[in-house]
This record gives sequence, structure tokens and C-alpha cells, in this order.
Amino acid sequence: MPSLPVVFSGIQPSGAPHLGNYLGAIRPWVVEQAESRNYFCIVDLHALTVERDPAQLADQTRELAAVYWACGIDPAHSTVFVQSHVAAHAELGWLLTCLTPMGWLERMTQFKEKARGEQAERVGAGLFTYPALMAADILLYRTELVPVGEDQRQHLELARDLAQRFNHRYGETFVVPQPRIGHLGAGSRVMGLDDPTTKMSKTGGQEAGCILLLDPPDLIRRKVLRAQTDSGREVAVEVAGPGVANLVDIWRAVTGASREDAGRCFDGRGYGELKRRVADALLEVLAPIQDRALALLRDRAELDRRLADGAAVAQPVAAGTLARARRRLGLLSLPGG
Ligand code: TYM
Repeated sequence: MPSLPVVFSGIQPSGAPHLGNYLGAIRPWVVEQAESRNYFCIVDLHALTVERDPAQLADQTRELAAVYWACGIDPAHSTVFVQSHVAAHAELGWLLTCLTPMGWLERMTQFKEKARGEQAERVGAGLFTYPALMAADILLYRTELVPVGEDQRQHLELARDLAQRFNHRYGETFVVPQPRIGHLGAGSRVMGLDDPTTKMSKTGGQEAGCILLLDPPDLIRRKVLRAQTDSGREVAVEVAGPGVANLVDIWRAVTGASREDAGRCFDGRGYGELKRRVADALLEVLAPIQDRALALLRDRAELDRRLADGAAVAQPVAAGTLARARRRLGLLSLPGG
């Protein structure tokens, strides 16, 4: 039997998970999980690149785990674990940081965007070196495919470059991973509802434009009904401006419909009707997810047990790859280790 390809991906517990995380990442993971051996990580070390309230970080880590399972991540195919439970991430992160030229990091547009407006001396160094840690996450599991949203493309390129650089300098060690972006059609770049020219995100303070997966249903409906549309009155899918295009994209991603289906459903209809249909479709998908997530969150001990099981599966795999990289670099191992 041919072995299944390894998939790795992760989300930061840096805020409540939102619709962009679901449509760009979690949903594609769930849809395709039976075709691969998957590691879905809650990347808490990445969340430390900016100052966090400790109690909130702990809550958000559990909440994200509950949401992964509530969305349909299946333990039969997929290991869910917390990054900081597997120490190899931090260690390989350092080894790869040493291999990363400053110039590669300086090109990262996400760093430039996040650091904009801050005084350069105040931005944490972790925010700058973070792509090397992300590369470590991926490379530890001999990952072949990394399903992510469009905004992670550049970081993935860097992970590939680092794998190749290491292999070239020290001998074949890492698998060079492939990005998997937008292959389901729509949803790889969900835009803010209040400003469809910027991506929907948990940072940036654009509450009204960001649908959180655990928002109460009436709030979700309100946010969608208030979404910015374009000047004009009627939908024309093929020539829609950014606001309408974003709503159509969300509808397509949630329902699995094609562009042609969207044209047939909405062309010539008013924006109000489009919004109502988007809200209905979202609530239909999110209601059962919310029920399951809230049920899981009620039993914290069970949640923590499941995360410990995930770490126990991930740990030896990561340790094996790390040991190989250490040997290649000439780091001594302890006698008997
Ligand atoms: P993060 O936590 O910002 O986002 C997690 C996932 O959600 C996707 N995403 C979106 N997709 C569509 N539209 C949006 N508006 C939107 N916003 C977020 C992201 O593309 C991502 O897939 N660096 C990563 C986390 C990470 C990681 C990894 C990912 C750390 N190590 C290893 C993959 C593999 C991040 O900050 O994602």
C-alpha cells in the first residue's frame, strides 16, 4: 500500500479563530484529511511574538483546539497538538534561524506590515525571525504538503529555501514541502467585511469586519448585513467590485458552489438578498460547529488529555528529525542518547 503524504499546518492562538482561518485553512484540512497523514498544530510559540496576557493565551489555546475538533478534524487521520509541548520545534527553530540570511527575512511582507507604525527598536526580534520557526514546524514532520491561506505563501517559500539550503550544505536531511493554497476554489483569501481591500484578521482591531467562529448567530448576521458593498445596486458576479466579490467568495467557499452557480443565483439580485443568503449559509455551517466546540470546552480535563495524546504522537517523529539535523551539524549527543 503506498504510504500517505504527510500534511502539516497550524494556526496561532493569538485571538479567537475567525472565518478566514476556517475557509483558508481548517475547512481544506477537514475536506482532505483522509487522503494524508496529518499534523495540525496550535502554534503557541508563534503567538508570543507580541506581548500577550498569559491567562488569555492559555484560554485561546484550548479554544482553538476545541474549534479544530468541532470543525471535523478526525483523530483517526489527524494529530492535533500544541507546539510548545514538543520542544524540538524551539530547538530546530534556533538551528534554522542560524541558517537564515537577514535579507530573506527582510523581504517578508507580513513582517513589514506588522512592524509598520511601530518603532523599529520596539518590535520583538521574534516577529522578525518567526519564519525560521515556522520552517522548523513544517520540516520536523517530513511534511510534503502545507495547506494554508494565500497570506502564508511567502513564508512557505522561505521554508522550502531553508530546507534546500540545509540539504545542500549538510547533506540530504529535510523533505522540501509544497504549499497547497486555494485548491478548493474559493476561501484562500477572505477579506474584511468592513474593508474588503484588507484581509480578514484577528489583529488589526477591525471587529466589525471579522466574523469569529464562536460569535453568537445574531452578531454574525449583523456583521454580514453591515458588510461594505460596492456602489451600484445589483450583483454581477463576473464584474463585481471587492465588497461584493468577497461576499460571493464566502458564499461559494461555504456552500462549495462554482462561480457559474453564484452567477445563476445572484446576478441581477440586490445586495441585500446576497447578504441574507451569505448569512444563512454561514449560520447553517457554523451552528453545529459552535455546539460541538462549546461542549468540548466544558470539559477542560478531557481537552488537555487529548492534547497530551497528540503531543505523544508528534514528539517521537519530531525528535527523530531533530536528531538527524543535529548529527548533520556536528552537535554531540549525550552518551546513550
Ligand atoms: P495564522 O494564525 O495567521 O492563520 C492561520 C491560517 O489561516 C489562514 N488565514 C486566512 N485564510 C484566508 N483568508 C484570511 N483572511 C485568512 N487569515 C488567516 C492562514 O493563511 C493560515 O493558513 N504563520 C502561520 C502559522 C504557522 C504555520 C506553521 C502554518 C506557524 N507554523 C506551519 C503552516 C505551517 C500564521 O501566522 O497563520
